[in-house]
Amino acid sequence: MRFDVLTLFPEIFSGYLSQSLLKKGIDAGLLAVHLHDIRRWTTDKHQKVDDRPFGGGPGMVIKVEPVVDCVEAVQKLVEPAGKLILLSPQGKRLDQDLVKELAAEPRLVLVCGRYEGFDQRIIDVLQPEEISIGDYVLNGGEAAAMVVIDACSRLIPGVLGDEQSSQDDSFSTESGQLEFPQYTRPREFRGLTVPEVLLSGDHGEIARWRQEQSYLKTKERRQDLLE
Ligand SMILES: C[S@@+](CC[C@H](N)C(=O)[O-])C[C@H]1O[C@@H](n2cnc3c(N)ncnc32)[C@H](O)[C@@H]1O
Repeated sequence: MRFDVLTLFPEIFSGYLSQSLLKKGIDAGLLAVHLHDIRRWTTDKHQKVDDRPFGGGPGMVIKVEPVVDCVEAVQKLVEPAGKLILLSPQGKRLDQDLVKELAAEPRLVLVCGRYEGFDQRIIDVLQPEEISIGDYVLNGGEAAAMVVIDACSRLIPGVLGDEQSSQDDSFSTESGQLEFPQYTRPREFRGLTVPEVLLSGDHGEIARWRQEQSYLKTKERRQDLLE
């Protein structure tokens, strides 16, 4: 799967992409992340990517020309053109179902905003899917783009050591419930012991216990997922 990320701050991504599962996936050729600095598509000598809002008010707005030019150039780099996503707090809220849909795409083009956000004509011209990672406002779309890349990468075959682990994840089983509690060594810590059933070796009992715990946890914390 290929991700193209359009940003004013490409360096933000380097640490995240060079560690752990994402690095392994990239090294194995299972995913590729291409970073594009929107500023490179400016044509004026000051490389201006933002300007004051018409109508007044605080902050700066991202200009239409460099973003549209950058998206159009990046889309032409390879076939197929990517599904175009604009990260925005005003977009559709990201959840595991949407992650599944996105992970089925061969290519995503992710556009990160900054400052007061985008000139509306960027949206009118490019007609992207706008995606929000939650009802709060970030300084920029880079962290949101990393969330999308990270969540999708778990569903790319081969990225996780064991595919079963993403199938058991919260929101990912058929029932859509939260995952059951997990334990590892030691068996006892400050008087807290691992439930006996997990040490029993009885796989049927373990599966029943996990299903029940999953249900109880979901009922306690996220009744909405059961409805
Ligand atoms: C400070 S925000 C602009 C918010 C904008 N003034 C508004 O109220 O809708 C700057 C950029 O951060 C990104 N961003 C902020 N919050 C986000 C969220 N919850 N999900 C996805 N992207 C977000 C977007 O790319 C946005 O253009």
